Amino acid sequence: MEQTTPQQPTETDGAWKPRSKVEEVAATINIPSQPKVMQDINLEFNKEDIDFGKIGELIRRDVSLSAKIVKVANSPLFRRRKSIESIDHALLILGRIQFQQTILASALRQTLEGHGREMDQFWAHSESMGLICDVIARQFQPDLAGYAYMVGLFHDCAVPILMDRSSEYNTLVPRVLARDRLVSNEEEVVGEIDHASLGMAMTRSWSVPIPITKAVMAHHSDDFLVHDDPTTTRLHVILAIAENYYLYSRRAENEIFQPVTPNPWLLTAIEVATGWSKHRIDGLSAVLDKRFSDI
Ligand SMILES: [Fe+2]
Ligand SMILES: [Fe+2]
Repeated sequence: MEQTTPQQPTETDGAWKPRSKVEEVAATINIPSQPKVMQDINLEFNKEDIDFGKIGELIRRDVSLSAKIVKVANSPLFRRRKSIESIDHALLILGRIQFQQTILASALRQTLEGHGREMDQFWAHSESMGLICDVIARQFQPDLAGYAYMVGLFHDCAVPILMDRSSEYNTLVPRVLARDRLVSNEEEVVGEIDHASLGMAMTRSWSVPIPITKAVMAHHSDDFLVHDDPTTTRLHVILAIAENYYLYSRRAENEIFQPVTPNPWLLTAIEVATGWSKHRIDGLSAVLDKRFSDI
C-alpha cells in the first residue's frame, strides 16, 4: 500500500485548527495516499469538457480497480435492474455522478484493504452512509449531493488505519460506527488520536474539498454552529441525520427516527443551523425507507 505522511497545513487554507497534539500524532501515522490513477481521473473529471473515453482507458489500465468498480456498481446499494458487466457498460448505464461515486468508492476500497468482521461492518457503514447522505442532500440541498456522497463515504475513513495500528482498537469499532459521542476520549487512550481527527488528515492528503474535511473532523459532535461556512454546517448536519438513519435501519438505538422518542435538543440544533424543520426531518424516513428498503 502506497503511503504518505500528511502535509503540514498552512495558516491560510482555513481547514485546520491548530491542535498541536493532533498534528503531532497524525504526522507519525502513515496515511494511505490517494492512488495515482484516481488523481488522473479527478483531473479529467475537473475539466470542462470531460473525456469519458480517456477516463475509461485510465480505469481499464488498472485491472484491480476495474474489477472493484464493476463489483461496487453491481452492489445492491445502487439498485441496478441489469447487472453491469464491464467498465464500458458502467460508463453507459450509470450517470456521470454515479459513475464518479462508484470510482471513488472503489479507489477507497482498493486503498483500505483488509479483512474481518470489523472491516465488513466498516464498509457496510461507509458505503451506505455515502448513499444515505446523497439522498438527504437531494431532499434538502440538491446542490450538495456530490459533496454529501463524499462526506458519507469518507467520514470514518481513518477507522481501518487505527484498526491496523492496534488490535485493541477493534473493540471500539462498534461504538465508533454508532456515533458514540464519548468514544473519542477512549480512542485517544488506545491510539493517541481519534478517527475524526485522523480522518481530517487523510481527507486533506487526498485533496478532498475543504468543507468535507471540516465536516469529517466535526462529525461526532452536535455543535453545528462551530463552522464559518454554510456548506460545512450543512454537510455536518447531513452526516448527523444519516448516522441516525443508518442506526434506525439496523434497528439500533438512534435519536431521530421512530419508534424512539426523538432527541428534541438535536432536532432543534439541526433546525437552528439549517432551517430544516422537525416536520421535514420526520418525513425523511419514508423517503429513505423507500430507497433503501431492500438493503
Ligand atoms: Fe465516526
Ligand atoms: Fe459513521
